[in-house]
Amino acid sequence: MTIVETPTGALLQESCIPVLETARLVLRVPQIEDAGAIAEHANNRKIAEMTANLPHPYRPADGRAFIEHLAATTEGAHFAVFLKHEAGLAFAGMCGFGRRPGESAPELGYWFGEPFWGRGLATEAARAVIDYAFSETDTLRMLGAARVVNPASRRVLEKCGFQWCGAGLTRVKAIGASVPVDRFELDKGTWASLRAWGSTALPLRRTLAH
Ligand SMILES: CC(C)(COP(=O)(O)OP(=O)(O)OC[C@H]1O[C@@H](n2cnc3c(N)ncnc32)[C@H](O)[C@@H]1OP(=O)(O)O)[C@@H](O)C(=O)NCCC(=O)NCCS
Repeated sequence: MTIVETPTGALLQESCIPVLETARLVLRVPQIEDAGAIAEHANNRKIAEMTANLPHPYRPADGRAFIEHLAATTEGAHFAVFLKHEAGLAFAGMCGFGRRPGESAPELGYWFGEPFWGRGLATEAARAVIDYAFSETDTLRMLGAARVVNPASRRVLEKCGFQWCGAGLTRVKAIGASVPVDRFELDKGTWASLRAWGSTALPLRRTLAH
């Protein structure tokens, strides 16, 4: 394992988490130089109020602290998500998974900058991260949670095969309160089945001859 020093002097482990690529996205472990772009998009109350741990306001120093924290932990995998375009890559959001204290399985989490909403990008990123978790780590089950007032996030989970498994409360740092959430889960067997189903062609349709 290689130890690297960040511009702030923190000593970090170099990541062994791979770069993931989809049709429109590149996902990689965030680097210190991403802190500005992360803060630019995360500094949005609409995002902070839907996520558990984002502070509001969100400053570049929060982005740097977050990246250093990720690099110092071996729990889960968290990816900065970049949208491919002619001129290169544009930071679009974050997507990853990690185990909360006391939980039996890692939880999938994501947020995207507001200009990137409504284009299927969160679903595309979440599917890549889920594929990685189930195919390249020892993950057997993943959890998800969405505020009851967040149908977009609920829909992302559903489009990734998650099933509702209960309701509860989650603390949201940005509002300093606990809020009702729906909880979801996806096990590795269901994921494998959905992946296999997706690769089969639709059945042929014939009309009955009279
Ligand atoms: C939730 C979030 C990640 C979704 O990102 P996105 O890239 O727009 O998501 P996608 O386009 O992949 O999918 C969104 C789905 O929700 C649907 N949707 C969006 N707003 C909706 C609403 N108000 N009611 C019902 N469905 C809604 C979309 O139509 C789409 O479903 P479809 O493909 O079946 O049409 C993004 O809005 C976000 O970052 N929000 C703030 C942070 C957050 O909520 N994070 C999740 C914490 S649990």
